[in-house]
Amino acid sequence: MSVTQFTIRRPDDWHLHLRDGAMLRSVIGHTSANFARAIIMPNLVPPVVTADQAASYLEQIRAALPEGDDFEPLMTLYLTETTDPEDVAQSAASGLIKAVKLYPAGATTNSESGVRDIEKIYPVLERMSEIDLPLLVHGEVTDPEIDIFDREAVFIDRVLDPLRQRFPTLRIVMEHVTTKEGVNYVMTSPKGIAATLTTHHLIINRNAYLVGGIKPHYYCLPVAKRETHRLAVRAAATSGNPRFFLGTDSAPHFDGAKESACGCAGIYTSINTLNCLAHVFEDDGALDQFEAFASLSGPAFYGLLPNEQRLKFIKQSDPVEMPGKISVQNETITVFDPGFALLWRHELTKAGEI
Ligand code: NCD
Ligand code: ZN
Repeated sequence: MSVTQFTIRRPDDWHLHLRDGAMLRSVIGHTSANFARAIIMPNLVPPVVTADQAASYLEQIRAALPEGDDFEPLMTLYLTETTDPEDVAQSAASGLIKAVKLYPAGATTNSESGVRDIEKIYPVLERMSEIDLPLLVHGEVTDPEIDIFDREAVFIDRVLDPLRQRFPTLRIVMEHVTTKEGVNYVMTSPKGIAATLTTHHLIINRNAYLVGGIKPHYYCLPVAKRETHRLAVRAAATSGNPRFFLGTDSAPHFDGAKESACGCAGIYTSINTLNCLAHVFEDDGALDQFEAFASLSGPAFYGLLPNEQRLKFIKQSDPVEMPGKISVQNETITVFDPGFALLWRHELTKAGEI
């Protein structure tokens, strides 16, 4: 008989874009209702570069939380070529930040203040190794000579692997891995490296945004690759290997900015990510590995305890009702459409109440 309900520890999201202002207030509840914690990406305009900026962003997030939601934002700093190693060390020591994010300049949304010359950040990386603060990397080169579908694999050879040789004790998360090269690299490296995997990269390949017309709501960075890569990423997610954990990379943009001659990158999944994931893990006969991926392996990497609360999943015969768009003032954000009906719903329960 097939499983129709199961319970996991309350999940965390290890890669999330909450934005600020009205957008923050509209999206945060979709995360805080289900996830206990999330690593908050710092690519605001302007980016969250200093401890002071991280502290005020944290206040803004807390103020936007729906009343009664129990949610802990885990803050990060945006690494620039002028980041002060002392500021990083103090923010880590005070508990304000949990990681630092490396964006190669120009690699993705709001990454212009990122890093061009990697040697300029060696002093910060040295300090981070000493204090054991994880480095989160957007793993794509920006060299215009390199095909966009190869940018992750080339980043591993040109940037990531040399970085690991130079800073062997620096713990690194390769964010939103999308290729079999990325999966293999993380799987076969000595310990100290992990990867987040997004929900959408488990579900879509490049046909989603290219076949039958340009589909901007499936466009994100790194771009979804060909099917063989999706299968490698999906096998890693459902394997139970603790080096791979959930980072949704839910990245809301207003529809006007996406449906444009130069549409921006990012897919909004917070609201239906867990419903989609239950479907994926069930499809792959891997529901028993879902908790490791969504709730256990991430905290283990970050040196945190898993959450005590539980999330119970129930499979229903009618699809869960899900809005196609979220309204924010006069604008809308399109919700990720996985292309299948969502039959799994979920609700928070207390530990022991199964
Ligand atoms: C992200 C965003 O919109 O901030 N976009 C995306 O396509 N994933 C940035 C990022 O994580 O690369
Ligand atoms: Zn992201």
